[in-house]
Amino acid sequence: MFLVQAVLDFPLATPSLPPVIFDIGTGSGCIAIALARSLPNSIVYATDISQKALKVAKQNAFLHGVFDRIRFLHGDLFQPLTTHYSLLTTDLIVSNPPYIPAGRSLPPEVLKEPRIAWNGGWKGCQIVERMVRESWDRLKPGGWLALEMDCTHGLWISALMKRLGYREIQVLKDWSGLDRVALARK
Ligand SMILES: C[S@@+](CC[C@H](N)C(=O)[O-])C[C@H]1O[C@@H](n2cnc3c(N)ncnc32)[C@H](O)[C@@H]1O
Repeated sequence: MFLVQAVLDFPLATPSLPPVIFDIGTGSGCIAIALARSLPNSIVYATDISQKALKVAKQNAFLHGVFDRIRFLHGDLFQPLTTHYSLLTTDLIVSNPPYIPAGRSLPPEVLKEPRIAWNGGWKGCQIVERMVRESWDRLKPGGWLALEMDCTHGLWISALMKRLGYREIQVLKDWSGLDRVALARK
């Protein structure tokens, strides 16, 4: 998956030991699990608003031998972290949030997924904007935010990040040459 590869390729050096990572909107847990396996000392906090998704993610984490290093939390974006770990900050936030703009025609395989997994609301920006804003207070100084995004959101998301004070903003192109991942540092 391109987001995971981007995070692992890019020098997102995590100063704290063991690295603490947040995966927001974990779904099946694929990002959390891939990072936990690739960064053996890491502890991942993975949230999702869907209990069904979390159940699958927990099974997957167990199957891949990383259940003990991923804390699965149910709720809206960072809210469960606020409830259970109010002071916890991180070196790295990753997320593949729902970002498909309303009204876009979608292939059948996406339409089979629950709407909450892909629907980004008007222009697809609703959850993405919240992610960029709410990540700020959860990042350590120098910590990184890595977001998968719609290929039409590059300019908008860079401008939003800049306005909010992020630095070292980059938009990476995926293997098809489309803008796909935004990276920024607090
Ligand atoms: C595009 S899917 C990504 C799933 C997985 N991370 C991946 O990359 O395959 C978006 C996920 O975000 C979750 N989600 C949607 N709105 C959310 C919210 N407000 N708070 C937390 N999770 C949310 C959905 O349930 C879904 O699992």
